[in-house]
Order: sequence, then C-alpha cells, then structure tokens
Amino acid sequence: MNNRPHIYAPEIWNNPHPFYSTLRRDAPVSQVEPGGMWAVTRYEDVLYVLKHPQLFSSEGLRAAVQPAWLEQRNPVCDSLLMMDPPAHTRLRALISRTFSAQGVARLEPFIRSSAESIVADMLARRRVDFVESMALALPSRAMSALLGLDASLVPRFKRWADAVVSVGITPAEATQRRAELCADLDDLKHHLTQVLELRRREPGNDVVNDLLQARAQGGVVSDDELMSFLVILLIAGLETTYNLLGLCGLMLADHPELWARLKADRTLVPRFIEEVLRFHSPSQSTMRITTQETELGGVRLPKGAVLLVQFVSANRDESVFPNAHHFDLDRTGAPNLAFGQGIHFCVGAPLARLEARTAVEVLLERCDRLVREPGPVTWNVAVTTRGLAVLPLELLPVP
Ligand code: HEM
Repeated sequence: MNNRPHIYAPEIWNNPHPFYSTLRRDAPVSQVEPGGMWAVTRYEDVLYVLKHPQLFSSEGLRAAVQPAWLEQRNPVCDSLLMMDPPAHTRLRALISRTFSAQGVARLEPFIRSSAESIVADMLARRRVDFVESMALALPSRAMSALLGLDASLVPRFKRWADAVVSVGITPAEATQRRAELCADLDDLKHHLTQVLELRRREPGNDVVNDLLQARAQGGVVSDDELMSFLVILLIAGLETTYNLLGLCGLMLADHPELWARLKADRTLVPRFIEEVLRFHSPSQSTMRITTQETELGGVRLPKGAVLLVQFVSANRDESVFPNAHHFDLDRTGAPNLAFGQGIHFCVGAPLARLEARTAVEVLLERCDRLVREPGPVTWNVAVTTRGLAVLPLELLPVP
C-alpha cells in the first residue's frame, strides 16, 4: 500500500480543482494512483512536455494502453495519437487538410440543420436529457457524415466510444466487464472493416475515401493504420465533443446572467465556448512516457516514467489565468490547453468548435430559457475525459 492519492476517488473526480490547486502549489510533478503515474499539473510544465516529444514520447505508451487481456485489441495503439515523428508527421499530413477550418466549414450547413432539428425535437418534448438528446446526437450525426457511416449505427457509437475510453480503468477483477469490452471492440472493428470494403467498391465523398486515395497514390497507409485512423477519429470526435456540449448546456442552464448576455450579443458565443473549454477541460489529460532521465518542474524523472499531463489543472493555473476558478466571458490572455499543444494539437478542434458554436446559437435563437432541476450533477468516469453522464433540462420556447 502507498499513500498516493487516487485520481478516480469520488471526492477528487467529482470536484478535482481543490486537489490540483494543492498539487500545483506543493508538488507540481508528483506520483498518483492508478499506476504511480506522474501528474504534471502546472501550465508551464504541461506546455514543456507537449512541446518536447523527443523527451516525452507518445509512441512509448503503446504497451501501457494494451493490457494483455485485450489481446492486441486496443485500436488506439496504431493511431497517430500513439506515434512520434517521423511516423506521426506522415499520418497527420494525410488528414490535416480535411480537418482545417476551411475543410470543416463545408460541414456547416449540415451541422446547422442537424442542430435545428435536434432543438425542435427537444422543444416538442420540453423535458429532456440534454446529454443524450443534444450532446450525443449532434457529434454522432457530424461523425457519420464525416466518416460516411450509416446513420443506423449511431446508437452503437457511444457504446464503442465507452469501450475504448474505459479500457484503462477496468480493474483486474472485473472479468465480466472485460469480456464485454472485448466484444464491443470486436464489433467496432467488424463494422469499420465493412465500411472500408464498401468504400473500396463504391467511393464516397468522405474521410474514408480521402484515406483510401492516399493509400492508392503512395501506398503509405497500412491496413492497421487505416482502421486505427477511423477508430481514433470516431472516438476522439465523439467522446470529447459530447462532453463539451453537455458542459455548455450545464453552464447555460445554471447561469442565467450568461444566457442573457449571450442572447443579447451572439458574437460572444465563441468566447463562451473557449471559456467552457478552459473551465471544464472536457479532455482532462493525456499521457506521455519519458525517453530518458530528465528533469521537470524541479523533479528528476527516470527513463520510462509515465506522465499524466493534466489539462484540467493547467487550465486553472492561477499564475496564468487570474481568478482561474471564476468563469469569465471577458477573459483575455494565454490560450487554454483544452485541445493540447504542439505536434499532437487536436486535429478536430475546428470541427468541435463549429459544433459547439452552432448548438449554442440555435439554443439561443429558439429557447427562452433552459431550466435545470436544482441539485448535484452526475459525472462520468473515464481515463482522460470528463463530462456529464446525464443532464435533465426543461427547454422553454421563445414566446
Ligand atoms: C471538445 C472536443 C475535443 C477536445 C477537448 C479534444 C482534445 C484533444 C486533445 C487534448 C488532443 C491532444 C492529445 C495529446 O496531445 O496526446 C487531441 C488530439 C486529437 N483529436 Fe481531439 N478533441 C476534441 C474533438 C475532436 C474531434 C471532433 C476530432 C475528430 C473529428 C478529434 C480528433 C483528434 C485526433 C485525431 C487527435 C490526435 C492528433 C495527433 O495525435 O496528432 N478531436 N484532441
């Protein structure tokens, strides 16, 4: 037994900020459970890690996220998220154009009409679980359009995403859960294999097609890489955006003064999204592994130390964000690190921002108010993401 704090303990998970404030002050780089990982908590140190991939590798982590019981099933392992240069540079170049701000702007009409029909449906029902009705529905539609997936698969997206993100927190004794996770990952792979086969026969106008073309032209993408690309796009595109949208709903319902300001001035919506990203960090953390003995924040780390790089903490660092625990629509200054930094900076950031901005704009246009039952909210637990499990809301239409 050791005395290290466990970051999934309910008292930390439900409100992580007091815990990380203390770490930033007293032990900014220190070991936590599970696994004795080194939590990196200050903005400056988080940035340093992300900007030095030669010292802090993503590739070296593969073994850590592929426990033996998964029998090589974790598809994230072959994705660009788990690669260092030069392999990472090559794969990233294949999708950067599709996901650029101009690339995703083409999706805007589709995202707007999807958001409008979702809000109309919620208003018709009046009392809804916002998480399921909006936060899950909009990114699911966006990802099916982007990846050319059949809309009938949407109900399975969340199950697959949950399987991928819960691999690292499933305890050794949870045999039944492990069997379910393996079955879900097999199901995911089976469906994506079918999508690839279909696209080979009938090319579409989507990311799958772009990847297959890149492969035909240069033979640069292996089958495993192709599969992992689809998985990482689907999971990263769904899980984090889902959390962001749910958290936007929470802030809009709980802060009538914010709602009123945004209603009066819609140009503030992008700032609102950025502040939700900073304040809540839907992607809580990422991981890296040291390639050699190195010093970070005054601590000597051995080679092979696994780092938990905490965006959730860096984004509340008082030395960078004055009054960091206050939600401030007028905040200026340093950028938040919600989408990471450096070579792995989130490729889907323009898409996530577009989805969130559109959802909030349509809510402001169509609703008079969002009302939440008072009381605590339920947080979901996953390795690196944090958001709401459910958010019951009543939507009042504009008179
Ligand atoms: C609010 C929504 C999102 C958040 C907070 C978020 C956050 C992040 C973060 C922090 C990273 C960097 C991880 C690291 O450095 O290890 C990342 C990478 C990535 N994200 Fe996102 N993400 C979001 C939405 C999306 C969407 C919509 C997509 C795709 C459609 C996406 C695809 C990716 C991919 C492919 C990577 C890996 C990039 C690389 O390794 O070069 N993300 N994301």
